[in-house]
Amino acid sequence: MQYEKLIEKAIAAKKLAYTPYSGFKVGAALLAESGEVFIGCNIENAAYSPTNCAERTAFFTAVANGVMKFSAVAIVGGMGDDLGKNCFPCGVCRQVMMEFCTPNFKIIIAQSPTNYTIYTLLDLLPNGFGSTNLSYNKQH
Ligand code: THU
Repeated sequence: MQYEKLIEKAIAAKKLAYTPYSGFKVGAALLAESGEVFIGCNIENAAYSPTNCAERTAFFTAVANGVMKFSAVAIVGGMGDDLGKNCFPCGVCRQVMMEFCTPNFKIIIAQSPTNYTIYTLLDLLPNGFGSTNLSYNKQH
């Protein structure tokens, strides 16, 4: 899939964000190696800490549908309808990407379908901690 189309899906997902507390809306569109796309939006909560970011909503939806191999994610975010600033994934979401993605996984930070920058997971999470760090992984 073209990145432009993936960004369009992220922009559509952003409109679904549930953000009564911050008003900051994020949309993510996660491209699986199979070609399937899983969208996510941020979902806030009155108790604040249960809030889920858009990126994790997309990843967890994919995994819950049996998909665990990914090639790219497009991310857009801003207050209300704004799209004019880059929205980078938070540290927790980068760590979730570390669980399921290779260092070359593409993270597309977009302001519009034609205005975007492509990073890799290695760019945004160098020296990340992952399953290969655990001896547990070798035994099971
Ligand atoms: N948020 C995301 O959904 N993704 C990010 O990468 C950064 C932050 C959400 C969480 C919260 O609902 C709002 O943005 C403000 O932090």
